Amino acid sequence: MQILCSIPEMQAVNYPAGSKVGFVPTMGYLHEGHLSLVDAAVKSSDLVVVSIFVNPAQFAPSEDLDSYPRDFDRDLALLEKRKVDYVFFPTADEMYPPGYKTWVEVEGISHILCGNTRPEHFKGVSTVVLKLLNIVRPQSMYMGEKDFQQLTVLQRMTQDLNLGVDIIGCPIIREEDGLAKSSRNLYLKGKEREQATCLYKALTNSQKLVAAGELAAEKIIAAAEQLILDSLVKVDYIKIVDGRDLSEVQDIDEHSRMLIAAWVGKPRLIDNMSLKA
Ligand code: PAF
Repeated sequence: MQILCSIPEMQAVNYPAGSKVGFVPTMGYLHEGHLSLVDAAVKSSDLVVVSIFVNPAQFAPSEDLDSYPRDFDRDLALLEKRKVDYVFFPTADEMYPPGYKTWVEVEGISHILCGNTRPEHFKGVSTVVLKLLNIVRPQSMYMGEKDFQQLTVLQRMTQDLNLGVDIIGCPIIREEDGLAKSSRNLYLKGKEREQATCLYKALTNSQKLVAAGELAAEKIIAAAEQLILDSLVKVDYIKIVDGRDLSEVQDIDEHSRMLIAAWVGKPRLIDNMSLKA
């Protein structure tokens, strides 16, 4: 496994002609969710590149950029065991040098849902991912479905800009009690860890309602909201959208997906699930 700490080093990698390069972009502090993406990439690619970059452009000044968990040595040890070929670990100064002025914005879908409370977030994500794709030059990129909006925004970007990269969405990896794995779960203190399971419970309860014949989005959302409020967790949003374009739906069909964001104490967690299992 080669560790490349600068953009020119990564750009200079000469992949053998015809080899299929799979790419997993991460912000490090790897957990089983990330590792499942690496496994998917290893399975379907000839060469695998993982990037580790805590992207300042996707954090608002009030957010957790400085305290975002980092452990490069532990990340490398995990990736070593998984047949990763290259780890790209650039610095923020190199990614955004003085005078940097170019941003990518996927209109509309970047400003709903999580974009309401994090208005600049997806601009930062789209920009860094486009830069990473240009530098790494993969055929496929592997992303978790946990940030479903991110996945949709990046699929739209690659399609709109004719990047010719396949974006592969991979299933959410959960703890035994259903909590979606996330680097931010680390911030949950004391009883918040138990309270945090209410997102999963609200999603599975919504699935059950749909299976029992309830198809009115409004009613399903109201039940989910009640379940979350009963756990004393503060809802940011609960929406049912068409998973193909994030538009809100009134009646459930096979494309419907519930997306939730909520503050469990200080940490803001997100989760989602298709409503037609
Ligand atoms: O999902 C993440 O970890 C980040 O948003 C990503 C895609 C690596 C871009 O910084």
